[in-house]
Amino acid sequence: MVDDLRKGLEGVLVAESELSSIDGDEGRLIYRGYAIEDLARGANYEEVLYLLWHGHLPDEDELEAFTASLDDEQAVSEDVLATMERLADAEERPMAALRTAVSMFSATEPETDADPADLEATLRMGRRITAKIPTALAAFERYRIGEEPVDPHPDLGLAANFLYMLTGEEPDDVAAETFDQALILHADHGLNASTFTSMVIGSTMADIYSAVTGGIGALSGPLHGGANQDVMEVLFEIDESDLDHREWIEQAIEEGRRIPGFGHRVYNVKDPRARILQERSEELAENGDDRWYTYTTTIEQYLTEEKGLPEKGIAPNVDFYSGSVYYQLGIPIDMYTPIFAMSRAGGWIAHVLEYQDDNRLIRPRARYTGPQDQELVPLEER
Ligand code: SDX
Repeated sequence: MVDDLRKGLEGVLVAESELSSIDGDEGRLIYRGYAIEDLARGANYEEVLYLLWHGHLPDEDELEAFTASLDDEQAVSEDVLATMERLADAEERPMAALRTAVSMFSATEPETDADPADLEATLRMGRRITAKIPTALAAFERYRIGEEPVDPHPDLGLAANFLYMLTGEEPDDVAAETFDQALILHADHGLNASTFTSMVIGSTMADIYSAVTGGIGALSGPLHGGANQDVMEVLFEIDESDLDHREWIEQAIEEGRRIPGFGHRVYNVKDPRARILQERSEELAENGDDRWYTYTTTIEQYLTEEKGLPEKGIAPNVDFYSGSVYYQLGIPIDMYTPIFAMSRAGGWIAHVLEYQDDNRLIRPRARYTGPQDQELVPLEER
């Protein structure tokens, strides 16, 4: 047994992977060798999903067939819709509704008992999950606002279709392209907590629905995927405060508040995904309400120039600018983390497929520090 205990598995290597690599010192992220900046600006989410799952960017025929296979799976069953309606009426949290929806996909779809070694079956289930999440999530939101769900649009890609099913209107090019880019940026990120959770489940040779459901649970926490919603809550607080937004951030830091969207286990510098989302947030602000972008950049400026956090390795992460982007796209703030899950399901599935291909049950140890040689006293004498 290895004896040096690493709380939180910090810095521990547990696998080899060809999927993505993070350079935390240089602030670089690549998916299968492609820089995230190039993918975000030159590909769409379906191409990136194909790259992660199949190991190369698709040519036109491959992309057409892949996109068609996703389109064929976008519809969800009446049972799933009825459950989304019931959960919306019960005011359930969207991440809990999403976790339930994915579990239901396995109940209403065949193949959950397929041999995990059957790569094609797992890919088919992976496509079903990825294609159905936007439909189920949009239906949940429509029920929440007292509207009927909108069927998927046959001519729209996964990103634009989600916005269409959410609002009932086809998104304009800027919104569609921005949202597609956000899905690309969130698709994969090494062995983050939710991806590792999915891998642990996959390493027992459990089905892919169980692995994705577990990933959703892990992502929902405020230290992980839940931070994007927390950032927007901070921006609302600033907006409603009597203080000037710079005074607000000064006071918050004095009170010792930890700013969501700042800091990262791996990045010691600004997350490259935050840089791209900042550009999009600025573009959206130029043509709309610039308060949110202004508040966000003021926080970053203060934490950088006054508090010197980046020198301590604490800088904006992917969640810091995604809030103001999604808000300007009119997306409800408690849908931000579910959107993160919508994209990252592709990465979870990719890592489970890759790990199961050369599988080893993930089973770490703990150093026992409890008592020894306890004598059992019968209940009547305790
Ligand atoms: C994501 O792992 C991934 O790849 C995740 C992700 C992905 O794509 O999957 O990138 C997505 O989860 C991004 C992170 C979203 N979470 C947040 O924004 C929540 C706020 N940030 C943190 O709480 C924190 O930075 C973590 C949880 C993200 C990382 O925490 P670590 O590595 O466990 O570091 P830590 O909590 O021990 O903090 C180290 C130091 C501490 O200072 P000291 O107590 O040692 O003096 O940095 C400080 C912390 O106080 N610090 C912060 C801070 N985050 C860390 N100080 C002020 N504000 C913050 N936000």
